[in-house]
This record gives sequence, C-alpha cells and structure tokens, in this order.
Amino acid sequence: MTDKEAAQLITGAAKGCPKECGQAYAPVNIALCKYWGKRDEMLNLPVTSSLSLSLPELGATTRISFREGHDQLFLDGVEQSRDSVSARRVSKYLDLFRPDRSTFFHVESESTVPIAAGLASSASGFAALALALNDLFQWNLGLRDLSILARLGSGSAARSIYTGFVLWHAGTREDGMDSFAEPVDGEWPGLCMGLIMVSRREKAVSSRIAMKRTVDTSALYRAWPAKVESDLKNLRQAIEKKDFDLLGRTAESNALAMHATMMDSQPPVLYWMPETVEEIRKIWRLRDNGLPVYFTMDAGPNIKMLFMEKDASLIREHFPDMEIALS
Ligand code: PMV
Repeated sequence: MTDKEAAQLITGAAKGCPKECGQAYAPVNIALCKYWGKRDEMLNLPVTSSLSLSLPELGATTRISFREGHDQLFLDGVEQSRDSVSARRVSKYLDLFRPDRSTFFHVESESTVPIAAGLASSASGFAALALALNDLFQWNLGLRDLSILARLGSGSAARSIYTGFVLWHAGTREDGMDSFAEPVDGEWPGLCMGLIMVSRREKAVSSRIAMKRTVDTSALYRAWPAKVESDLKNLRQAIEKKDFDLLGRTAESNALAMHATMMDSQPPVLYWMPETVEEIRKIWRLRDNGLPVYFTMDAGPNIKMLFMEKDASLIREHFPDMEIALS
C-alpha cells in the first residue's frame, strides 16, 4: 500500500464542504519509550510501540488555505523557498490530499520550539497540519484516523494528536490501519519536564536517516524490541502507581539504549556534544546525592530532565538556563 492509498482509505469516505481556511494547534511530545526503526518506510510504520508525554505549552499552530500555482510555506513568518527541505517535505505530504493536480495550498505554521533541534518539532508540525487539513476539508475525522494521517507525515506526529501520556501502537497490518496512537489514562500532577538546550542548530543527520542506518547495520538493534517491551510494561506500571523513580529510571535507560544502537551503526551516529555529557554527569551526581532527577534525549544533543515539582527550585538552582516545559 502507498501512503496516498492509505490517506484515501481514511479521507475517501469523509464528506464535507471545504472551508476557506483550516486551523489547528498540536503539542510537542517527548517519548519516554522511543520510536526507533521502521517496518515500512513509506507509511512510517514502526518496529515497536512507543509511549510519550505531550508538552501542552510547546507546539505548532498551523493555518492552511487554497491557492493557485504552487504550494507556499511560511515557518514562523518566514517564507520557505520551494526547493528547501521543509517546503518539499510539506508539499509531498499535501500531495496525499490534493483533490486534483491543480489544487495547491498556502500553509503558515508558528512553532514555539526550534525547528529540527531534536525537540520533535516535526511531530507537532505534522500533527497540526493533519488537524488543520481536517478543519479545512471538514472531514470530521475521529482522533484515531487523524493520528494515522499525522503518522504519514512523521512517525512521532501520530502521538502529537493528544495531550498527556500517549501510547502509539506499532500494529501488525501492512496497510497500517492498526498503527495509531491513543491516550493512556493517568493524570500526574506535579510531574515536570525541563529542557536543557545544548544546541539550537539543525542536526547534521536526520532522524529518518539515522533510524534506517541503525536498523540496517546495528547488531545491538536486535535487542531493541525486547528492551521496548519491558520498558513499556514498566512505564505503564509507573504511570498507574505514580512511581516516579520507576518512570525516570525506565525513560533514561530507554533513551541511552536507543543512542547505543545509533552509535553501533555504520557509519556511527553520535548526536552528543561535550556539553551533553557534562549535563548527564551532573544529573547523575545530583541523583547520587539524593535528588530524584532523570533525563531523556531524542535525535539531537539536547536534554529533557524529568523531576517532581517539589524539587523544581533546587533543580533550577543547579540548571539556571533550564526551560520548564511541563509542571
Ligand atoms: O518522527 P520522527 O521521524 O521525527 O522520529 C522521531 C524519533 C525520536 O524522536 C528519536 C523518538 C521518538 O519516539 O520521538
């Protein structure tokens, strides 16, 4: 099945009269158990399930309308040239939804996170775009279908359709219709995530390339599905019991295991910078001294710390530049 066929399977039955402009917001999500590796490249179908936490304050707001001639993309108010990576990626995604070949779109997206700095900006971007298309075409799709449509733009976007804890089911079907995200029950007042920006620069190797290289060449990757299975079980238990140490320990270990598979690939992928290692050592030192703080990392050098609100002021003393994203 192609991505276009998958999109048509979902939107084909939806009847609606398009509006002039569609608009939507979608939050960033940070995986506590990562999506790393695809079983289908075109449909962004993952090898394993994954679990994330959405950061309600950080995300993308996207507006979309029809225009003639060619697609036009503005990111944070700046028009992207038609042959830029982002404009091409968005146009390719919009191809899945064009009613005919002469329909083009004007897209404006404002993001509260730096693009491509390992802060999952593509997740909130494509989720907001899928939701904005739903608003524009008046499809009235359910969240499960919208999660599948967002997934076709960027895998992790499947999870950015929701707030709170979110589980993305890997699914087994070839057409991917059972590979969607769903919210996981469990409010957790006082749980905080703090961002340490080591670099705002665009990463040299995209997560798409790094993921494929890992799957193709890393011997360690063979151990990844079993690791995910056990981590998902622990995370679900941690959320249910509000066991912060289990949550933090599991998320940190999952992120380190993901990075280990990348480092083991050929040629190796290493997103870490010297400051990344410094901050990690600092977190470990603080933890050894009794402060419950853990971290996770994605495809970039930046660090997301997990801690409880009661420890926030102490954490801030040690990390004065930290941006608090959830509390
Ligand atoms: O959706 P992509 O292609 O940007 O991949 C995201 C991969 C990670 O952020 C590293 C992990 C995850 O689950 O979000």
